[in-house]
Amino acid sequence: MNLTKLSKTELTGLCADLEKQYEGLKAHNHKLDMSRGKPSGEQLDLSNDLLTEPFSYRSENGTDSRNYGILEGLPETRKFFGDILGIEPDNIIIGGNASLSLEYDALMRMWVFGSKGSAPWSKLPKVKFICPVPGYDRHFTMLQELGIEMINVDLYEDGPDMDRVEELVKYDPLVKGMFCVPLYSNPTGSCYSEEKVRRLAAMNTAAEDFKIFWDNAYGIHHLYDEGEKLADIFALCREYGTEDRVFYFFSTSKITFAGAGVSLVAASEDMIKEIKGHMFCQTIGYDKVNQLRTLSFFNTHGGIREHMKRHAALLRPKFELVLDRFEKEFADSGILSWSRPKGGYFISVDTLKGCAKETVALCKGVGLTLTGAGAAFPYGKDPNDTNIRIAPSYPDMKELADALDVFCICCRLAAVRKLLEG
Ligand SMILES: Cc1ncc(COP(=O)(O)O)c(C=O)c1O
Repeated sequence: MNLTKLSKTELTGLCADLEKQYEGLKAHNHKLDMSRGKPSGEQLDLSNDLLTEPFSYRSENGTDSRNYGILEGLPETRKFFGDILGIEPDNIIIGGNASLSLEYDALMRMWVFGSKGSAPWSKLPKVKFICPVPGYDRHFTMLQELGIEMINVDLYEDGPDMDRVEELVKYDPLVKGMFCVPLYSNPTGSCYSEEKVRRLAAMNTAAEDFKIFWDNAYGIHHLYDEGEKLADIFALCREYGTEDRVFYFFSTSKITFAGAGVSLVAASEDMIKEIKGHMFCQTIGYDKVNQLRTLSFFNTHGGIREHMKRHAALLRPKFELVLDRFEKEFADSGILSWSRPKGGYFISVDTLKGCAKETVALCKGVGLTLTGAGAAFPYGKDPNDTNIRIAPSYPDMKELADALDVFCICCRLAAVRKLLEG
């Protein structure tokens, strides 16, 4: 039933009915949380052997991982992740427990020191970044902290609106960078097409020091065997002589333990040299013991791809529960559209214009916490107030089903009230 086609009388009747259902939800005293894309306990348990299994603290070349040194990380760790991601080990530096701090460091280096003799960004009258939206809130928080102006660009299923991106970077030298989550993006699940990756590599930028923060956080997080393929941005950049443009990030946060894994930054040869120069002042070296523990774990458990299949087996039913329910409840309703990701951690929904905040507030009123409406936009401002991020990974199946009961009623109620206003 398309709710947008109903008469005022029909809507009034429906609204009364939904308000009754909403009151009924209060009796459940729900305490449900779908606000953050955290792995579930079951997913974390998949890696528990990391905590108990013995492993050698000596690396292949005999280095004692317990001691200081090897700023760029152990050779076998760089090779291991290089093989998975299709990056030369020499272009990889292994970091600490989380990729987000490597992203923050990369931004700070540009802010404080600049790159290849260019002015530090902090010395410029203004710095602007392109932000594909909806996007990852923590990228935006980072930029906001520095007062960097964020420019929204629409993100489609196959990547950002590249006509707009090319137009923005072409004439304005203060447009310095862009955050991209190129595979199963947070929150829409978008996967950048080869054509869009090529255009990012090829585009003419007025800023010589334009940087793409390529946050491939979900690079191997497929829900189905036939996972999406991502074009090799470094190879494409080499074709156009723009290799210095890309800072590439990855971590095992959603592979082993969240915030307690292994992260990496990859870049061109020149950029790696620069990064290491600054990192040398920052740390003697990251945690090599964890690097060896992680590699040993994957070697004894059939490899990282098999491990990701075990994650997928736990995550897939949750995604399918949400998507099937949306299909049943909202297919022809005219009040909700949603993404259908094949990987990653999120489903992104769009309500009727002006209904996202109200839907989230209604959910909160009956015990379901969702990510704040607008969180996936710079400054927390969704210009249409339509977008809500659904994070199905953490609750168990029963909690997820309960959460969907709540969400569906609240979403309808907010929409019907809005339609009655109009
Ligand atoms: C796009 C994206 N990047 C980075 C992170 C955080 O990764 P890490 O734990 O490696 O800092 C997340 C976590 O949700 C994410 O969604």
